[in-house]
Amino acid sequence: MEKFIQRVISIFITIFLFLHLLQAKHYDIDRQPPRKLIFTPHKRSDSDPQQVHISLVGKDHMRVSWITEAKHVSSNVEYGKVPGKYNAKATGEHTSYHYFLYSSGMIHHVTIGPLEPSTTYFYRCGGSGPEFSFKTPPPQFPIEFAVVGDLGQTEWTSSTLSHVESRDYDVLLLPGDLSYADTQQPLWDSFGRLVEPYASQRPWMVTEGNHEIETFPIIYPHGFKAYNARWLMPYAESGSTSNLYYSFEVAGTHVVMLGSYTDFDADSDQYRWLEADLAKVDRNKTPWIVVLLHAPWYNTNTAHQGEGEDMRKAMEELLYKARVDVVFAGHVHAYERFTRIFNEKADPCGPIHVTIGDGGNREGLALMFKTPASPLSLYREPTFGHGRLRVVNQTHAYWSWHRNNDSNAVVADEVWLQSLSTSKSCRAGFDHHTSSFLNDEL
Ligand SMILES: *[C@@H]1O[C@H](CO)[C@@H](O)[C@H](O)[C@H]1NC(C)=O
Ligand SMILES: *[C@@H]1O[C@H](CO)[C@@H](O)[C@H](O)[C@H]1NC(C)=O
Ligand SMILES: [Fe+2]
Repeated sequence: MEKFIQRVISIFITIFLFLHLLQAKHYDIDRQPPRKLIFTPHKRSDSDPQQVHISLVGKDHMRVSWITEAKHVSSNVEYGKVPGKYNAKATGEHTSYHYFLYSSGMIHHVTIGPLEPSTTYFYRCGGSGPEFSFKTPPPQFPIEFAVVGDLGQTEWTSSTLSHVESRDYDVLLLPGDLSYADTQQPLWDSFGRLVEPYASQRPWMVTEGNHEIETFPIIYPHGFKAYNARWLMPYAESGSTSNLYYSFEVAGTHVVMLGSYTDFDADSDQYRWLEADLAKVDRNKTPWIVVLLHAPWYNTNTAHQGEGEDMRKAMEELLYKARVDVVFAGHVHAYERFTRIFNEKADPCGPIHVTIGDGGNREGLALMFKTPASPLSLYREPTFGHGRLRVVNQTHAYWSWHRNNDSNAVVADEVWLQSLSTSKSCRAGFDHHTSSFLNDEL
């Protein structure tokens, strides 16, 4: 039965891909066309862990998440600093969900720690199956983030992931659109298996895109069923009440994950949470603030024009006043880097906006940019690839975009960034803002 369903899905996807291929060819034959979907089969025993991935929790803990087909497997993780020798063990919880006729395996989440920074740990999930290992992030700069959006599960995805892995990094940030399951739940499992070799070794911190929504009228009105169950992020730890937006701090960087597909207006929970979260940031402790969201606020591609506009209008001033350094978005399947912007104008105290929605999904690239180019847009190119943000110290970070060039990756765009927390003139505005926060509270 399952085999049959997989067959049907893959036939559908092949037809879909074929149509898309024709379409893409139409625009520009020199550009990378989409590549085949990879369905990653389940090869371990039913009680063995599959789809293992890890995420940061608080200052020195890690959440280990995995799925078992078997229902009796206990939610525990054994771990230690030497392979095969586990001197610590933690127990967590498990969940599962239904989506029409599909029922998920057991989804386990176990938080382990305290862990030492910059340290390799070996671990085993549920007392059986293979040993995995991960490295914890450093306690201070330098830290390197890999940034990849709109990932999907095609041959381009695996090309991007192999380039991400070919050079060491500490934490992966994903601004939405993970599996492109689009309600075909077995594709969530396939995606989990495809990314396991990477996501079990380094923390993957994600936020949701439109492909995570999966609402269905009346039956599943709220959506995000699979996403919230499988990709649990440390929202409670950051005072958020929703897995759809949260923040975390790692090595001098405050990372805010926003939700483009939940309420963001001034009277929404997300807005109030963001305001409080930004007010709590201590720029001496975390000089860098990085924000991720799915639908870009600035975009000169013809695809998805204006889709981030309502959210920009609602929240841009909060980010500006907090002197956020960079905003990463996905959604548009291309790469684009802007100058520092506030309110649609270049502004030395506004964040740099980057669209990095070119991870490799089956929909292919967003090939057409508007002409003439806006002077705010400094680099744009519709090619699959990934980005890296290397935060060198409290003042400097190095951003690079790595274009997929078949089997290798080529740096196509690179720029040094300076943190706004160390800009005297922007800081003046920031300090003023901080004291007005204090005044508000008095
Ligand atoms: C930070 O890194 C930049 C780039 O390498 C360097 O020029 C600068 O001197 C460093 N600043 C500090 C305080 O170490
Ligand atoms: C990109 O790939 C092509 C073909 O594999 C190769 O000839 C070329 O040298 C590569 N470019 C770079 C900059 O690595
Ligand atoms: Fe999207």
